[in-house]
Amino acid sequence: MQQPEPEPQSFDRVLSSMCTEPHPAARAAAERFLATNPGDPATYEAVADLERRAVEGLATLSAHPTPGDAAGYVTSGGTEANVQAVRSARNRHDGSDGRHGGKAVNVVAPTSAHFSFTKAAEVLGVELRTVPLDDDYRADPDAVAAAVDDDTALVVAVAGSTEYGRVDPIPELAAVAGEVGARLHVDAAWGGFVLPFTDHAWSFADAAVDTLTIDPHKYGQAPVPAGGLLAREDAALDALAVDTPYLETRSQATLTGTRSGAGVAGAVAAMDALWPDGYREAAERAADNADWLAGELAARGYDVVEPELPLVAAAVPESTFAALRDAGWKVSRTGTGELRVVCMPHVTRSALRAFLDDLDRVRR
Ligand SMILES: Cc1ncc(COP(=O)(O)O)c(C=O)c1O
Repeated sequence: MQQPEPEPQSFDRVLSSMCTEPHPAARAAAERFLATNPGDPATYEAVADLERRAVEGLATLSAHPTPGDAAGYVTSGGTEANVQAVRSARNRHDGSDGRHGGKAVNVVAPTSAHFSFTKAAEVLGVELRTVPLDDDYRADPDAVAAAVDDDTALVVAVAGSTEYGRVDPIPELAAVAGEVGARLHVDAAWGGFVLPFTDHAWSFADAAVDTLTIDPHKYGQAPVPAGGLLAREDAALDALAVDTPYLETRSQATLTGTRSGAGVAGAVAAMDALWPDGYREAAERAADNADWLAGELAARGYDVVEPELPLVAAAVPESTFAALRDAGWKVSRTGTGELRVVCMPHVTRSALRAFLDDLDRVRR
C-alpha cells in the first residue's frame, strides 16, 4: 500500500530543542557530501580536507592559540566530544586503563554538567564526582576544590548549561584543576557559537583550557550530526589514537569509525556563511528574544531565572505546562520542573508572541 511521504516536524513551535534549522548553504553542502566518510580520510580525501577546515573554524571561534593546526575533529555531537574528553584525560592521567595508583581515576563536574558525562563515566570506568552549584546555577570553585584530589584526571566546566544557560567561572576552575595536576574540559556544546559575542571568559584564550566541546549542530546552524572536540595540545588526541591496520591511515582517534561527511560539510558551509556577522546577528537577536520573553513571563507573575545566554526558565504550574504541550508547543522542563525555552535561531519574536497568547489562554 502506498504510504504518504513522511515529513519531519516544523520548527514553528519548537521551543526547547538545542538544535535548529540548518542554514540553506549547510543543508546543500550536507546533501552533496552525504556519501562520504571522513573516518577513512585516505579514501575520502575531499571531506578529510573539509574536516581540517571545520576544525580551524571551530578553533577560531574558541580562540585556540593556533587555529590553523589545532587538534580536534568533528564528532557525532556533544556526547561523543564529552566522552572523548574524559577518555583522553583518563588516558593521559594514568596511562590508559582508568586506574591511577590502584585507585579509580575521577572526574569532577558540577551537577549542571550534561548527562553525557554520566555515560562517559560508566563507559570508561571512571568515578564521576558531581558537586553542588552556587545559588545562581554555576559551578562553585570552592566545592570543586573540595572534591578534587591527586586522582582527578579532569575538571569539567560548562559554558552554556543545558538547563539554565549558565557559564561557569572557568578561569577559577582551571586554577583548581591545575593545583592537583588535573586537566580542564569546557563543555561549550550549546554556548560555543554565542559566547564569542559576549564578554564571558570561556575560551582557550581566557584560561588554561585543555579540551573543549563546541557543536556546529546546535547554535552553529549546521545539520545533525556535527559536534566538535578541540584540544590545546596534539597529545590530547594522540591519547585517543588506536592502530587501524587495514586502513591507509595508520591510526584513528575518533570514537565512531564510519562518520557523517554530511555533518562535516554542513559545518564548514554554515561557518563560511555565518562567521562572524551572521552568528553575531543570531546571538543578538536570540539575546533580545530571551530578555523580552523573561520580562513577559515575569510580568505575568511567574518566577523567572534571568537569562545569561538565550535560555529562559520559569516556574509555570504543571497544568499550564501540560496545556501548552497539548496546544502543540514543544517545551520541556528543568530537573526541578521549570518551563524551559531555548531561544534558538528559528525561534522568532512572532513565535514567542503566539506562545504567550496560548499561555494567556490556557492559564485562565
Ligand atoms: C551543554 C551540553 N553538552 C552536551 C550535550 C550533548 O550533545 P548531543 O546531544 O549533541 O550529544 C548537550 C545537549 O543538549 C548540551 O546541552
